[in-house]
Amino acid sequence: MQLLDGKLVSKSVKDSLAASVENHLRGGGKTPHLAAILVGDNGASQTYVASKVKACEEVGFRSTLLQLPGDLPEAVLLHRIEAFNQDPEVDGILVQLPLPAHISEHKVIETIRVEKDVDGFHPESMGRMALGLPSFLPATPYGILLLMEHYQIQTKGRHAVVIGRSHIVGRPMSILLSRNDYPGNCSVTLCHSHTLHLPAICLQADIIIAALGQPGFLRSDMVKEGAVVVDVGITRVPDANRKAGFAIRGDVDFESVAPRCSYITPVPGGVGPMTIAALLKNTWYSCTHKKT
Ligand code: GUN
Repeated sequence: MQLLDGKLVSKSVKDSLAASVENHLRGGGKTPHLAAILVGDNGASQTYVASKVKACEEVGFRSTLLQLPGDLPEAVLLHRIEAFNQDPEVDGILVQLPLPAHISEHKVIETIRVEKDVDGFHPESMGRMALGLPSFLPATPYGILLLMEHYQIQTKGRHAVVIGRSHIVGRPMSILLSRNDYPGNCSVTLCHSHTLHLPAICLQADIIIAALGQPGFLRSDMVKEGAVVVDVGITRVPDANRKAGFAIRGDVDFESVAPRCSYITPVPGGVGPMTIAALLKNTWYSCTHKKT
């Protein structure tokens, strides 16, 4: 069993980006600039956005963090996005999800200019992704592809089972793994809360992407010997022994599953850091491939 070390691979992505940025600036290029919007005071979202801002600093990007109150009217948020759309200094815009219930996620995402949609959630980005056209890829699935590529995971002709059909992870992951590309060319089964015989389906998988948000869901009796297992879960579970009062747990019961795997991601230190690396790559691309 080998670990898919997201911390290590994300560091190599960031080092390479930092060198490119330095070169770009020396040649008179513009500093890449990510604008992040955080609405409300969701603790996990605050942590994720802080990590994204820190990662920008590490590679020499500029970042702007706009923190807005949770009772903010939707129209005000849309105006703030529009201001970033119009600002030529801003290359990428991300609005951290989830949003408060009174704000339409769809409206917010559709307001972001597709050229600055570094999260890849805009319907046009999603459509282009499904068609195999150039587009920003959603950061988590893109990060998983980068991780698979780094470890040269064989994907062609393999059966990939994706558990969870969220717009952020499961759905785009299933599309990307089915594309005629590397990593890709898988036969994909997309499972969700209504799937019958899920353990039997998982047992047939060469690759399992667990992205349902249920700690410890995937057990060893659901995993074929030699499978590649990618754990997207990052649920906070109460833990009195920790200073923060919680521990982060993945969707995979790592202890029992890991011995059966050829490769497996740890939590933390697997998919999480790769999501950030992918977001940085999208922002870099946006900055360096501007349409005039
Ligand atoms: N919430 C959970 N994952 C993500 C992500 O990749 N981007 C944004 N904007 N919000 C998220």
